[in-house]
Amino acid sequence: MTPFKPFNRILLTGAAGGLGQVLRDALQAHAHIIRASDISPLAPSRGAHEEVHRCDLADKAGVLGLAEGVDAIVHLGGVSVERPFEDILDANIRGTFHVYEAARQQGVKRIVFASSNHVTGFYPQGVELDTHAQRRPDGYYGLSKAYGEDMATFYFHRYGIETVSLRIGSSFPEPRNRRMLSTWLSYPDLEHLVARALLAEDVGHSVVYGVSANRDLWWNNRHAAHLGYAPRDSSEMFRAQIERQPAPAADEPGSGFQGGPFTAAGPFPAV
Ligand SMILES: NC(=O)c1ccc[n+]([C@@H]2O[C@H](COP(=O)([O-])OP(=O)(O)OC[C@H]3O[C@@H](n4cnc5c(N)ncnc54)[C@H](O)[C@@H]3O)[C@@H](O)[C@H]2O)c1
Repeated sequence: MTPFKPFNRILLTGAAGGLGQVLRDALQAHAHIIRASDISPLAPSRGAHEEVHRCDLADKAGVLGLAEGVDAIVHLGGVSVERPFEDILDANIRGTFHVYEAARQQGVKRIVFASSNHVTGFYPQGVELDTHAQRRPDGYYGLSKAYGEDMATFYFHRYGIETVSLRIGSSFPEPRNRRMLSTWLSYPDLEHLVARALLAEDVGHSVVYGVSANRDLWWNNRHAAHLGYAPRDSSEMFRAQIERQPAPAADEPGSGFQGGPFTAAGPFPAV
């Protein structure tokens, strides 16, 4: 018997990236077909349960086609680090607009948007934030994610398209430095968070920090309790190995802010 899955087809943008490769597999539990898309080369389809489409998010007509026959979108695609504004513009700003317009035109009602902790990167480390704290983007990348969150609010109130914006901390197999002891999001917790973002009811536009149950958290998800996100992993098991790294100098650029080195990037040369 075919197992019950809540969605027929989910579109995954950024499927060739670090998190995209993880979610391409994990999303199989929730949809009969995963449509994996990226501007970069993708692993070929492994069967009828996977569709693979190369597409630049800057291509509006292409993105409209990507969303055809889709029930939900997990939008990870874009530039994922701090870069000059001109490099961010097409993928993150135009691209996110194209995803929302495509959702509206194709009748897609749920989007999971990969936002970032860098929308609040200019708060000092150690200060506890919740998702109602005023944003303090720490660069053009963080600004593009703040724009994406506002896009989600607009498309909900205007068109009823629901979004969960995930302010992802640092999602890698292991934390890599002291900052990530606070910001780490394990892959199993990421998979659980994306599942809750797809399945929770009446989310409107909800914002949640994507972080594991680390000891020294800077982010409190009290306003996102309705999502049912319950992380299980913690960076504590990596603390000893991380603390063997040389301590950062007090004047190391960005070390006092939650956004870390992103807060000290730029200015970029004029183009
Ligand atoms: N990994 C993290 O810790 C983390 C933290 C905060 C936010 N995020 C966000 O989560 C998402 C996934 O992160 P990741 O670590 O997998 O990043 P990644 O850079 O590995 O993947 C992003 C993917 O987007 C694709 N892309 C870039 N420009 C594109 C375009 N114009 N059209 C289509 N595709 C394009 C890239 O080819 C890449 O495969 C990103 O949106 C990122 O900003 C990740």
